[in-house]
Order: sequence, then C-alpha cells, then structure tokens
Amino acid sequence: MSRDQDRNFDHFHQRFKQNIYASLKGRLRLEILWQDIQQHIPPLTTGMPLRILDAGSGMGNFSQRLHERGHQLLLCDISGKQLEAARQNLSMAQDSGSIRFIQQPFQQLADDSDEQFDLVLSHAVLEWLTEPQQGIGALQQLIRPGGWLSLLFFNRHSLIYRHLLNGNFKRVRSGDLAGEGKYLTPDNPLIPEQVYDWLDDSGLQIVACSGVRTFTDFMDRGMRDKLPFEALLEMELRYRAQEPFRSLARYIHVICHKP
Ligand SMILES: C[S@@+](CC[C@H](N)C(=O)[O-])C[C@H]1O[C@@H](n2cnc3c(N)ncnc32)[C@H](O)[C@@H]1O
Repeated sequence: MSRDQDRNFDHFHQRFKQNIYASLKGRLRLEILWQDIQQHIPPLTTGMPLRILDAGSGMGNFSQRLHERGHQLLLCDISGKQLEAARQNLSMAQDSGSIRFIQQPFQQLADDSDEQFDLVLSHAVLEWLTEPQQGIGALQQLIRPGGWLSLLFFNRHSLIYRHLLNGNFKRVRSGDLAGEGKYLTPDNPLIPEQVYDWLDDSGLQIVACSGVRTFTDFMDRGMRDKLPFEALLEMELRYRAQEPFRSLARYIHVICHKP
C-alpha cells in the first residue's frame, strides 16, 4: 500500500460538489472550521498575511476565505478535476492574496521540497489515505517551527453510532466500516484517540478539539429541514467542544501547534 492508492477524487468530484457543498453539511462544516481557526490560531487575527498550505484542498472552498483575506496559499491535491474547480472558484473570488496550485500527493511535497508553512490545512483527507499515520508525519514536516495545523478527519465512532441507529448490526459486528468506493463513506474512518496519539508522537501539541456535525446528522430529517440554518449552527457551535457530544460528531477538528 502506498500514497499512489490514496483516494483520488476525480471520480467523486461531482458527488462531492453536490452532496457536501451544495448542502447543509458543507455550510456547517465551513462555518464551524472558520470559528475554530479564528478562535484558536492567534496569527490569523493579526492581519499579517500567512503562508498557508491546503493539503488535499479539493475545490478550495475553505481556502477561498483565507485567500480573500490576503493570505498566500498553496493548494495541493492529487485530483485534476478538484483542482480545476478550485482554480475556477478562486479566480471568481476577490483576488487579494497570492495563490499557487500543485497536482501531487502532499506527502511528496514534504519529501521533495524544503518549503514550510505558517499554517497547514488538511480537511477530510486523512481518512482517504492508505497510510494515515505517515500522512500526519508529512503534514508535520510541512509546518514551520511555531506554525499551526488545522486537521479535520472522519470519526469512526460516529459511523458505528449511525449503523447502530439504523439497525445495521451485522456491519458493526464485522468491524468492516470502510466505504465501498461508490459513496462518500471514507476508505479509512479514523478512531480519534488513535489520531491524537499519532499527533503526539509526531511532536505536535493539540491546542483545541471540536466536533463538526455533532447532532445534525442524527436528527429527524423533517425537523432538520424545518429549522433555520442559523439555529442549527448556533447549537452545533455550542456543543462542538463539549463531551459527550464532540466524540460522536461526524468529523473531528483538531488544531495543533508545532513547538
Ligand atoms: C473529501 S475531499 C476534501 C477536500 C477539501 N479539503 C475540503 O474539505 O473540501 C478529499 C480530497 O483529498 C484529495 N487527496 C486524497 N489523497 C491525497 C493526497 N495524498 N495528497 C493530496 N490530496 C489528496 C482528494 O483528491 C480529494 O480532493
């Protein structure tokens, strides 16, 4: 198994665009991540432009906001289709920061270049890697000393809980929770406690941790559709860092500092 087998989203591009960013899921994700980084990464509030790497950038939805605030971005993805969409999204955005695009595994960037960044983003990528622990090692290498990591990953606990609620006990018993390559369930859903250990082993310090979609995915759909977005967001923000809600969230967002 190697990085060549990490999931390339050329095949998922259309589904990803539709199911995530054209829906409540993507809106909540963007807002929660945004609040987290503003709250926990002090250099983002100084107004100084930062060097930021988006490792597994997809269509650049999150980077777009940072670009609009004058930061310098490098978007890295293995999918040509996702990067093409990112180019289009960012060319339509208000152009204030500088921007580069690169089509290759971010692990290769870590191997081949000495470039390091003030902030590395890796959102919903780790669970698509064949070797996620090595992925964390590569991310760590790409952060300058004193820099920051914003890491979002798919939470295996939440998937088990979802199967339990749906009565899919056979699936739970089998322990095989990997997606089947057709839908957006990841190849490698991650156990948060294990990811925290990997971060610790790599020398990164966890500064904050929150859940993204702690309850909306489990809600009755009729009720969810009736409620205004602002009300759902308010409650997601309120419970995101609080146990036991955080540990059941669909994604876990960890902010780390490199000493
Ligand atoms: C679920 S999407 C997330 C995209 C974006 N970060 C977001 O949050 O919208 C995962 C992305 O990671 C990319 N990817 C997977 N393995 C990668 C790797 N080793 N290096 C760079 N990109 C990778 C895929 O092509 C895909 O675009």
